[in-house]
Parts: sequence; structure tokens; C-alpha cells
Amino acid sequence: MKMWSGRFRQPLDPQFERWQRSFDFDRRLLHYELAASGAHARALKNAGVLSADELISILQGLQQIGEMAATPKDLVQDDEAEDVHHFVEKQLVSRIGDVGYKLHSGRSRNEQIATDLRLFVRAAIDELRSELAGVCAAFTDRAELAGNAAMPAYTHLQRAEPVLLAHWLLAYVEMFLRDAGRLADCRKRLNVCPLGSGAVAGATLPLDRAFMADELDFEAPTANSIDATSDRDFALEFVNTLSLMGLHLSRWAEEMIIFSTQEFGFVQLPEAYSTGSSAMPQKKNPDLLELVRGKTGRMIGSATTLMVALKGLPLAYNKDLQETQEPLFDATDTALGLLPLVAGWMKAVEFNHQRMNEATQSGFMNAWAAATYLVNRGVPSRLAHEHIGKAVKLCVEKHCELQDLTLEELHTLNSLFDEGFRERLKPVSVLAIHDVVGGTAPARVRQGIVAARKSIDSLREEVNLHAHA
Ligand code: ARG
Repeated sequence: MKMWSGRFRQPLDPQFERWQRSFDFDRRLLHYELAASGAHARALKNAGVLSADELISILQGLQQIGEMAATPKDLVQDDEAEDVHHFVEKQLVSRIGDVGYKLHSGRSRNEQIATDLRLFVRAAIDELRSELAGVCAAFTDRAELAGNAAMPAYTHLQRAEPVLLAHWLLAYVEMFLRDAGRLADCRKRLNVCPLGSGAVAGATLPLDRAFMADELDFEAPTANSIDATSDRDFALEFVNTLSLMGLHLSRWAEEMIIFSTQEFGFVQLPEAYSTGSSAMPQKKNPDLLELVRGKTGRMIGSATTLMVALKGLPLAYNKDLQETQEPLFDATDTALGLLPLVAGWMKAVEFNHQRMNEATQSGFMNAWAAATYLVNRGVPSRLAHEHIGKAVKLCVEKHCELQDLTLEELHTLNSLFDEGFRERLKPVSVLAIHDVVGGTAPARVRQGIVAARKSIDSLREEVNLHAHA
């Protein structure tokens, strides 16, 4: 039986009927639909709408549906169910008879889908944060293993200053920790319960909303029934956060692709995560990285779809909202699919320390340190910059580096240069200059590793707390 056929004189056009169904994709919400239905049933009993026996029979029916769906051979199939809400009603009635129809008393699918989606996103956030902790740990482990290995840091993709490889790896950890933080913020905001909001103007029965919220581990009931039934901000905020996370991963992927080229040769692509070419026998391609970059476009696409779907919708529920589900699911699956692979890639990649170190020896990456040497001798910074700029010009003409200039040559630029200058230009000395929080000095980078580990631990603790809530 349909959930709404009473007032209709004609049956639906069969093609339209198939086309407007959402069951093909919202069946994945079944678990949440059953949980929310259980909370609603208990509230109905407390409101005196269901007898104790009716409640028991409804709860048992819901449990059986859950058990059936958990058995892989009984794939949730139903060519008539309009959506997951209709499916549960049909299943319930087939198991416990007409009393199953009582479950929908005083509620609307509008509040149900809003609730199911919140539960879905909440669980996805917990899973994603746990995967992000794994990614951060993989990067931090590599930072630890890298020890004092140095590499060039780039600005404008031109050699800029030497840094520790560990420092560069920790830059990505910072981004991923922010992503995990954003997911936590999003979780906080979405963790309110729409049940009892009805179709738009509240339930027609005196249902205890705080009780239902509590049953589903929500912080509180939503504050406004019109907003609660039409709001998908939480889905958009979540997918936007995933897009930003994807954007970070895509930057990383791009950089690793560049570093893996023969021109750079900084990293050796792990064979377990690369493929060859069917035509060119010599090829080893960075597929994982390219797909991470590509799938980021897909997540951003989902965020865009959501934004466009929501834009211009009058209050409150509109069927357009059904279109928010697939991009939400797709972005979630995409993100969950790639995070463990990124962690695996990071564990397997080989850094070519020698190539990286060689690259720190040239390209005038000590020029700023050289200017600072003069500043420390009282030369005004702008003039010091100018003098070292001239020294660089001289080097370019002579095809050498700053440390190769003779003292006589240096004295033509400024008489304050002395023998100590060359020592100050070594990459180790340059690195040691930034001996402040967040700086490149090895001891500071080690502090960075310790701090990252602490953040990862508390991220894991938070995730575990939610898992056992
Ligand atoms: N399948 C619908 C959706 O995803 C459920 C809500 C239907 N509500 C309605 N008034 N037709 O949005």
C-alpha cells in the first residue's frame, strides 16, 4: 500500500513512478531509519498512542527488518517501495500486520529523512576522522624516520630555502588536522534531532522530543520545525569540508607527482600503488596520486550540486531535497575510499634523500641567510638585500654559488664579510637559524613531531569516545 494514495483518482504514470523513487539510493539509510523509528515508537507509547504490546511488536518487527538487512544474501530489494520509509512500513506490516501502520502516527517522512541524514553524516564523520588520524600518523611516522634529511622548500615552485623533509611532511599534517577539526565542528552543529517536527509545523501528537533526541544520542531536539524539515546545511557543510580536505590531498598529490618525475627524482613511486603503460614498456605512472587529484574534483562537484540544489528553495520541505542524497553519499564514499590508500602510499613511498640533499646545495637558497649575516653586522636590511642580490648576480655570471665567492670578491660588495660567512651558508646553519616555535631548526621540528602525535592521540580519543557513546 502506498503511503499517500487516498486522495488520488488515477494511478501514477509508471515511468514517473520509477523515476521519482529514491529507494535505490536511500536504502543505505535503513539502519538509521530503523533506529529513528524505534525512538518514535517509544515516544508514541509514552504518549499513550501505542499499547505496551503494540510497542513490543513494532520493536520486534523493526529488529527483524534490521537482521534481514544485515544478512548479505537478503539484499534489500523492493521494486515497489518508494523510499526507505515506505520500505520499512511495508516490511513491518508484512511481519506484524496492520499494527505496523500505527508507527507512522504523528510523524512525516520530512522529519524522518532529515533525521536519517543527520545520523548518516554523524557516523560518516566519526569514520572519516578515524581515517584522517591514520593519514596524519603515516605522515608523522615518515617525518620521524626522515630525521635530519633536508630538501628545498619552494615558493612559486622556485627553490627558496632549505628545510627538513620532516618539516615539509608536517605541513600536510597541519592541514589534515584542521580538516579533522572542521569535521568535529560540523558534527557539533548537526547533532540535534528533528524528530517531532512533523511535515513542517510539528507533530500532531504530544511526543516527547527531548526523549527521542536522547534515544538517538543527539544533544537536543532541533529548535524550529520549519527549519528542521528543510535544512540540509549540515550535508553541505560536511561535503564542503570534504572538498577542502580533498583540496589538501590534491595539492599533496600534485606535489608528489612533480617530485616523482625524473626531473626532480625526489621520490620513488611505490610499485604497489602505481601502474604501467600498455604501450610504453618503461612507464611507471603515479595513478594513486592522479586519482586522488581527480576524485577531489568529484567531491567539489558534489558540493556544487548540493549548493545549487538548495539555492532558491522556499521553506520548508521540497522534493528537490531528495536530490541532496546522492552527492552526499558519493562524496562520503569517495573520501572514505581514498584516505586509507593515501596512508598506505605514504608508508610505502621511498624518499631519495641524496637527491633532495643535493638540491639544497644550489639555487642560492642561502641568500636570505646571507643577507641576515650582514644584518647581524649592522647593515640595514634593504642594503644587505641589495648587496647579496649583487653577489647572486656575480655568481650567475660565474656559474657558482654564494659560498664559492672569494673574500676579495665579497669585499667589493661590502667590507664586513669575513671568514665565518661560508660557515653560515651551509644548509645546516641556515636551517638552525629558525630556532623558534614552528621553525626549521631540527629541535623545533622534533617538537613539531611531538605536538602532531599529541593531536593525533586526542583525535583518536575523541573518535573512540563517540564510538562508545
Ligand atoms: N524520499 C524523500 C526525500 O528523500 C523522503 C521525504 C518525502 N517527503 C515528501 N513530502 N514527499 O526527500
